[in-house]
Amino acid sequence: MERDSLATRTGFNGTIEQYVDVMIDQVRRQVGDRQVLCALSGGVDSSVCAAIVHRAVGDQLTCLFVDHGLMRAGEPEMVRELFGNHFGMHLIMVDAQDRFFDKLDGVDDPEAKRKIIGEEFIRVFEDEAARLGQIDYLVQGTIYPDILESQSDKGVVKSHHNVGGLPDDFDFELVEPVKYLFKDEVRVAGELLGLPHEMVWRQPFPGPGLGVRVVGALTREKVRMVRESDAILRDEIAGAGLAHEIWQYFTVCPGGRAVGVVDGARTYGHAIVVRAVNSVDAMTAEVAELPYSLLKRITLRIITEVGGVTRVMYDTTPKPPGTIEWE
Ligand code: XMP
Repeated sequence: MERDSLATRTGFNGTIEQYVDVMIDQVRRQVGDRQVLCALSGGVDSSVCAAIVHRAVGDQLTCLFVDHGLMRAGEPEMVRELFGNHFGMHLIMVDAQDRFFDKLDGVDDPEAKRKIIGEEFIRVFEDEAARLGQIDYLVQGTIYPDILESQSDKGVVKSHHNVGGLPDDFDFELVEPVKYLFKDEVRVAGELLGLPHEMVWRQPFPGPGLGVRVVGALTREKVRMVRESDAILRDEIAGAGLAHEIWQYFTVCPGGRAVGVVDGARTYGHAIVVRAVNSVDAMTAEVAELPYSLLKRITLRIITEVGGVTRVMYDTTPKPPGTIEWE
């Protein structure tokens, strides 16, 4: 798809390398000597934003990692190691799992789920900010496709929580350093800022996390099945040397039930869908052609290692007509 040039989007006539300094400078001027809170999820966008803002204002930045219980396996540990230990940023980790699961109990509409997750995020920030003293700014990892999709004149495709779901009484000013960049440009900026290669080139992960990978109402049990199967998928894709070949891959619990036979006994369990796609900027996507032997191994491992799963499927739908996520 034809896309606007950096100059058209930003008014800046130069390379992306030069634009990194522009972003740092803009943040420094916007924030001045005030305090900034960064919603750090560990995804590429928020990580690059944290690196930009840290370069711009150093210790005026506090990063807040909210564990909403919808994270991938190993995610909180990775964030603590990279941002807390390696970069030495001021990092606060909040365990808000019960809060999110209580609010999401019985909610099955995807947009309602996104809105609740987005709003609850802000509430947690507000609570933590109140504890921290005066905080004036909130960093958000909004990128250009989020804005394009949320403003689509064909109606909202999906309200990305970092654009559409802000509550009315929101009382921080936003700092959105990469909002005019496409994903590939955000990654280039991340490398230039010294983020580790494997961090910058990791696959995108939606703000609402595994919450949009359980179709319908969330239960801790379904989230567990998605988290465990996702870890197996990532392990197998890495083992096959494909981790940097495939743009995005994950598992989904589509709801419904499927009969299986475990140790000779009939069981009535859950299905898990494996999705793997290639894309440049998430606007369109093609299904990754995983080797059949790999799919067989992934299936066998998920069935035997993830309690409650009796069926595994591979999603062969490109975008369009499908979206990348199931919700
Ligand atoms: P879709 O499903 O719209 O996904 O084809 C396109 C890209 O966006 C990610 N995605 C989200 N990211 N909040 C986010 O921050 C969301 O609510 C959300 N929904 C989808 C998705 O993972 C894919 O990379």
